[in-house]
Amino acid sequence: VKGKESEELLFSYKGVLYPIGLCSAETFQALDSIEFRQDDVFLAAYPKSGTNWTQHILNDLINALPNNKEVSQLEHIHVLEFAASEKFQKIKNAPSPRLFSTHLHYDDIPKAVFENKVKVLVVFRNPKDVAVSYYHFYNKNPGLPNVSSWDEFFQKFMSGAVTWSSYFDHALSWNNHMDEENIMIITYEEMKENLPGEVKQIAEFLGFSLPEEKIQSIAENATFESMSNKSQETHGILAPMVFRKGDVGDWKNLFTEAQSQEMDAKFKECLAGTKLGAKLKY
Ligand code: A3P
Repeated sequence: VKGKESEELLFSYKGVLYPIGLCSAETFQALDSIEFRQDDVFLAAYPKSGTNWTQHILNDLINALPNNKEVSQLEHIHVLEFAASEKFQKIKNAPSPRLFSTHLHYDDIPKAVFENKVKVLVVFRNPKDVAVSYYHFYNKNPGLPNVSSWDEFFQKFMSGAVTWSSYFDHALSWNNHMDEENIMIITYEEMKENLPGEVKQIAEFLGFSLPEEKIQSIAENATFESMSNKSQETHGILAPMVFRKGDVGDWKNLFTEAQSQEMDAKFKECLAGTKLGAKLKY
């Protein structure tokens, strides 16, 4: 219900904030009991970085595999931290390749994911656009605390007082693992620039051999226009929260010059000189 204070809607687990309605300490404690398979596919992204977009692409890639029974994105995706105990059996029985999605840091993902050589695709987006997208999401989402203004939200974002906490801590945790064989990092901006090229790279990373026409058609179905046109069908009441503008650079409509400089300084402090910093072309 809108208007609730943050204390009632969020809780902290190992120093990271989560929404009470979706996550629980019991789920986090039980995650280590999931048995991961080498052919599982894993997506990790900080909120508002293109999670739904990439999930859609991964789901279409899996559906395009020969002999695979076509299933919808919602049937396919297991959001790791939303996996309340009644979902564990479903996860256990789901046919390969299973598709997992998470906003967790590298360090909070069960070690078995990496030990079992699961392919992990990580999506990053420019933090300024993430902050703006998150602000609008907070405003539309009744399960999240009220924010009275962009300025207030900006300060919360910078200090990590938002769900899944600090973008920068998330980025630093992944930056330490960029060169691992089973981890591939892509960016929202690269997907906007050349979607078919990125879809192809993702397919190659997963070891999926698909005809060029299939790659093209998956990319065509994954444009913002195409996905938002079908969003009522695919996302129901969540559609307006997930599909907003889908642009690069929307931050310029909200950030003040001072906020832009503050974010630049924070980015520099945390990520300058790192591989991830270079990848983000900030
Ligand atoms: P905006 O709020 O900037 O429009 P997530 O899925 O991680 O919650 O991210 C949501 C953001 O991804 C939203 O950004 C949304 O519009 C954008 N998005 C969703 N589908 C997209 C697509 N097919 N192409 C580009 N952006 C997309």
